[in-house]
Amino acid sequence: MNMRLPDVVVQKPIYVTQPALPPLEEFIPYLQEIWDKKILTNGGPFHQQLEKALCDYLGVKHLALFSNGTLGLVTALQALRITGEVITTPYSFVATAHSLLWNGIKPVFVDVDPNTLNLDPAKIEAAITPQTTAIMPVHCYGHPCDTKAIQKIADNYNLRVIYDAAHAFGVKDEGGSVLRHGDLSVLSFHATKVFNTFEGGAIICPDAKTKLRIDQLKNFGFVDETTVVAPGINGKMSEINAAFGMLQLKHIDAALARRKEIDATYRELLKGVKGIRCLQDAGEAVANYSYFPILVDADYPLSRDDLYQKLKDNGIFARRYFYPLITDFPMYRGLPSAHRDNLPVATAASQKVMCLPIYPNLTINQASSIAQLIAVQ
Ligand SMILES: Cc1ncc(COP(=O)(O)O)c(C=O)c1O
Repeated sequence: MNMRLPDVVVQKPIYVTQPALPPLEEFIPYLQEIWDKKILTNGGPFHQQLEKALCDYLGVKHLALFSNGTLGLVTALQALRITGEVITTPYSFVATAHSLLWNGIKPVFVDVDPNTLNLDPAKIEAAITPQTTAIMPVHCYGHPCDTKAIQKIADNYNLRVIYDAAHAFGVKDEGGSVLRHGDLSVLSFHATKVFNTFEGGAIICPDAKTKLRIDQLKNFGFVDETTVVAPGINGKMSEINAAFGMLQLKHIDAALARRKEIDATYRELLKGVKGIRCLQDAGEAVANYSYFPILVDADYPLSRDDLYQKLKDNGIFARRYFYPLITDFPMYRGLPSAHRDNLPVATAASQKVMCLPIYPNLTINQASSIAQLIAVQ
């Protein structure tokens, strides 16, 4: 790509993301249908359609919609009856670890791989104790974990694997959807995600029996009109959100293509900039370009926080995902595994990382201007 750096002209403010919204008039017929049928929730027609459409789009067999990804994580753990200790990453959004606490499970934090910033399989075994029952890795920024190595450890120690796949909508490796790995995978359809239903999420299930149990758990534990078998939660997605998801699916390929262009623009314009490293993908066959993380190294003239402030002063609101680490929050910091000495790679990454704006409506000119602000001291 031969690209000239444009003059810095930034339409302000630019946030790290902007939700993708189809034209409003396209949504009206969906609303009309809901108004006509008067079914608002509890597995209505749009809910059923979206589950089917997402299975087809993502290339998975069974999927249970949720009102958000966090309730999906909480329910995934409950569905598999996970107890005791679960090995997870400190380098994620706090909901990953919160889902463990909501189930009375002790998180055990393990450091990440310096290239992918995903859970480092080489460090997992040392953290396994007789209480360990599962591993909860995160496909951070939509870059797949080392699923083979993780599964091998899980098989050796008889552990379950629940992937927090909140960032991994549409991502594929050489064998197909990354969502097929582990016992369960959980997606988020939050407003900031590649595919959004305002709020929403889903659990990818391996079989119909597991989906049925999950469907019961997200509906208070009801198995029929009068029988409740578990303390389930209300995790149901409403018809409005499901209808919106159906509309969003029509636009998703265009949105992903646009993200790819922005990703390529940043990479091209930042590649010669001393002290700036663009995180590489993890070898995925199909990426989703959900985030654009850069690492600000010591040989860049500004500290990460000074660059963050410089962008802010120019109306660009980058975000330091993931800083602070989950292990820095008060409900986790007292755990032995949360100690910084145990997490040198995650600690260093969280001090260097910054995610640049990336969303379908960001223009190439805007992305170029942001890159130029970083490139020109
Ligand atoms: C890695 C990760 N896990 C879980 C969640 C929680 O998803 P939700 O906001 O849909 O509850 C998010 C994002 O919000 C996330 O980024």
